[in-house]
Amino acid sequence: MNYDIKDINLASEGKRRIEWAERDMPVLGLIKERFSKEKPFAGKRLSACLHVTAETANLVKTLKAGGAEMCLVASNPLSTQDDVAASLVKDYGISVYAIKSEDKDTYYSHIRTAIEIKPHITMDDGADLVSTIHFDYPEQAKTILGSMEETTTGVIRLRAMAKDGSLKIPVIAVNDAKTKNLFDNRYGTGQSTVDGIIRATDILLAGKNVVVAGYGWCGRGFAMRCKGMGSNVIVTEVDSVKAIEAAMDGYRVMPMIEAAKIGDLFCTLTGDINVIREEHFKVMKDGAIVANSGHFNVEIDIQSLGKMAKEVRKGVRASVDEYVLADGRKVYLLAEGRLINLAAAEGHPASVMDMSFSTQSLMSEWVVKNQKGLEVKVHDVPGEVEDWVARLKLQSMGMEIDELTEEQKEYLSSWKIGT
Ligand SMILES: NC(=O)c1ccc[n+]([C@@H]2O[C@H](COP(=O)([O-])OP(=O)(O)OC[C@H]3O[C@@H](n4cnc5c(N)ncnc54)[C@H](O)[C@@H]3O)[C@@H](O)[C@H]2O)c1
Repeated sequence: MNYDIKDINLASEGKRRIEWAERDMPVLGLIKERFSKEKPFAGKRLSACLHVTAETANLVKTLKAGGAEMCLVASNPLSTQDDVAASLVKDYGISVYAIKSEDKDTYYSHIRTAIEIKPHITMDDGADLVSTIHFDYPEQAKTILGSMEETTTGVIRLRAMAKDGSLKIPVIAVNDAKTKNLFDNRYGTGQSTVDGIIRATDILLAGKNVVVAGYGWCGRGFAMRCKGMGSNVIVTEVDSVKAIEAAMDGYRVMPMIEAAKIGDLFCTLTGDINVIREEHFKVMKDGAIVANSGHFNVEIDIQSLGKMAKEVRKGVRASVDEYVLADGRKVYLLAEGRLINLAAAEGHPASVMDMSFSTQSLMSEWVVKNQKGLEVKVHDVPGEVEDWVARLKLQSMGMEIDELTEEQKEYLSSWKIGT
């Protein structure tokens, strides 16, 4: 087995964390049990480009139990938990190529390794693996049965590839499943982004003006949690409907140029580029803190911030860089503008990843079962898979729900009964 990780001696701590996460992933546990017996991936190589966390470790263990020969690489240079990577190699025999803070060249050389093992199935978080296949290994696309995509930004990239005719692999938009984005993006990102910001800065959120850029699933979750902790939340948006929703949820809504003047803490969760840029840094208060929880480190224009600064003090705390502007004001950038919840905290809690990764596992099996005739396009997760995951999650939470009666089923599918 080959691997490239920071230090194999970190394995025992990583194993404890993987086991701790497993306790909160009961649905994935049931899938693992079935996969161990049925071996749906026997003889298949599966390369996953995901955040290397304790939750991901449990996904990878599940796929391996199903017979897959696994290779795991990071989907972000800062999100790898080195102890988890070590345990996956030492305790579970999985090839991992991921080191926290790896540079861009190493990051992409690891991705190339995951491609060069010639996988039958791939899994992505942000589409870096699939886009590298399309750019540098186009011939290999023919032998890949399908690829799962975990996040909003990845699905946007893949839909753009499908639209301009360059997509060569059937892909599954796991992110777009309700069992994923309603919980993972909203409650997972909401809580873990607050967690990352607090771990990085130790600031009190109560009484702070917190500016949330983007009121999608992630933004809603983060805004909700900041409000709950006593912050005055301001939302910036470009979508009129989302802006009304934010206003009716009780937040102030304004353009970033206005919010920039009054914000104490800024967090981008848009999937967009240069959402906070020079014109905004120019009017920010002394001491403003700027973070990102969207997928790529492009939401904050860090280059302009660097050019505006007369001095940059890296690491005034772990994950905090101080930019001293020409007029003496200081702006603090967290985690180099990368996903704050993964760079400074531990990513989403296991309980929400249970649903996302159960959906990932079942869709990988679906790809193998439906490999003949699977159209090259972006596929949605079938309703029955979502329903299965949701029902088992409810069951694991000790909750039951009502069933439709025959009369209700008929009523809900008929137009005949009115006033
Ligand atoms: N931190 C994490 O762990 C994590 C988890 C899931 C998703 N993500 C990433 O977070 C980002 C957002 O995901 P989502 O599911 O909330 O997406 P979404 O599409 O539901 O929401 C994005 C919102 O941002 C708004 N927006 C776009 N450009 C903007 C701008 N210039 N100013 C203000 N608002 C703008 C859009 O109108 C939309 O409402 C994506 O990059 C996604 O991949 C991160």
